Amino acid sequence: MPAGGFSVSAPSGVEFEAKITPIVIISCIMAATGGLMFGYDVGISGGVTSMDDFLGKFFPAVLRKKQEDKESNYCKYDNQGLQLFTSSLYLAGLTATFFASYTTRRLGRRLTMLVAGVFFLVGVIFNGAAQDLAMLIVGRILLGCGVGFANQAVPLFLSEIAPTRIRGGLNILFQLNVTIGILFANLVNYGTSKIHPWGWRLSLSLAGIPAVLLTLGALFVTDTPNSLIERGRLEEGKAVLKKIRGTDNVEPEFNEIVEASRVAQEVKHPFRNLLQRRNRPQLVIAVLLQIFQQFTGINAIMFYAPVLFNTLGFKSDASLYSAVITGAVNVLSTLVSVYSVDRVGRRMLLLEAGVQMFLSQVAIAVVLGIKVTDHSDSLGHGWAIVVVVMVCTFVSSFAWSWGPLGWLIPSETFPLETRSAGQSVTVCVNLLFTFVIAQAFLSMLCHLKYAIFVFFSAWVLVMSLFVLFFLPETKNVPIEEMTERVWKQHWFWKRYMDDDNHHIVNGKITANNGASV
Ligand code: BGC
Repeated sequence: MPAGGFSVSAPSGVEFEAKITPIVIISCIMAATGGLMFGYDVGISGGVTSMDDFLGKFFPAVLRKKQEDKESNYCKYDNQGLQLFTSSLYLAGLTATFFASYTTRRLGRRLTMLVAGVFFLVGVIFNGAAQDLAMLIVGRILLGCGVGFANQAVPLFLSEIAPTRIRGGLNILFQLNVTIGILFANLVNYGTSKIHPWGWRLSLSLAGIPAVLLTLGALFVTDTPNSLIERGRLEEGKAVLKKIRGTDNVEPEFNEIVEASRVAQEVKHPFRNLLQRRNRPQLVIAVLLQIFQQFTGINAIMFYAPVLFNTLGFKSDASLYSAVITGAVNVLSTLVSVYSVDRVGRRMLLLEAGVQMFLSQVAIAVVLGIKVTDHSDSLGHGWAIVVVVMVCTFVSSFAWSWGPLGWLIPSETFPLETRSAGQSVTVCVNLLFTFVIAQAFLSMLCHLKYAIFVFFSAWVLVMSLFVLFFLPETKNVPIEEMTERVWKQHWFWKRYMDDDNHHIVNGKITANNGASV
């Protein structure tokens, strides 16, 4: 085993003084509502696209096919137009995030959240009032822009404003909101599927609630000290730092941010800078974490839980019911992560979950492989329960690992100079692969059948090995000290750090020879 593969030693472990102040907690709760919107959009489409009224209005061909029911069980919903409805949001989001990178850097985290809120509000109006497919898709695209801006700004906001020792837990409030959004969407769909013919309209319109929450939240929070200082507002940054840390003794942390922002000022082309050798570890990890997160297969389950359960022979109602159960498991298990991420660390959660996800997926594949034939009517009550239970164990392990950590780790490992650009690549890759899965899943299900779960389980194996060897632990390391205390100490990644010529440890800037400067 290569030395240092499992842990990172902290050469100097002194913490900055920071109380857990009400203003930090309230700001984080407000900002995290950006996740609510993302989750609601992820959760709502599966249920809506299995409503007959919705299909009849926008996708009559799919409805006809569904009613004729001659298709193989695995192929009922395989329609590119229908998949495009779900996917357009992700395509818009991944494009928008590059604009959001500019705004998070130049206008700040807070204003970027506000822009997201406005996109959401307009998108919801288009969707709720949709008369034709075009309006529906335009609405989804606007919502996607909101997701691009929100997912760019919110995780950065949370990681920067949080005191180091609870940074993981506070950042995960974002993912907690994502899961609450998904659950809320599932519950709404469960209710609205009984309202004919406009239940789907209500489903799409209720996204207005999270949209308003985020917009109000963005109006009330203060920007992060890091962002204020990065934009030259030093005094304001210091005042905010004192307020959120609940102490006047903020000099060491302030100096550290000032130094990080001095380096950031020198960067004229953030994206080009991101490609430099010394940013390779963070970049590779951010990109791979997103690809891996999506290749766990979570969204295959999340988007299409109702469709999937329908395919398995549950009746329409029962399928939404099962989706509600997975939604609840998702929320509760995310709380496990909020509690444990700063205690047991990121790596431990990812490794444990790897085992659990792998076993659940293999079990699902085996049951489906043996029990579901192309045209058999249903799975049988007992086996159906087994599948739901396995889906739940899969979702719970995802919810305390890849779900939150896919967002947390990239937002805390980039240095300030590349943080905005890095986060934008993170969001872009996340949404790109969310899109790929959304677009491909129904066709894959139709062709691979139960083996689709074998496919995802193989990915889980690969990503767990990656974590084991290449992912350093970032728990309890101050955000502007990652280079020094994480990357330069890692058995593999330290080789990329040789052209870094400034150190920041505990607010002191030192040259390469270790002397204070
Ligand atoms: C992922 C989403 C996913 C959700 C499920 C998020 O972290 O980025 O794609 O739908 O978790 O809870």
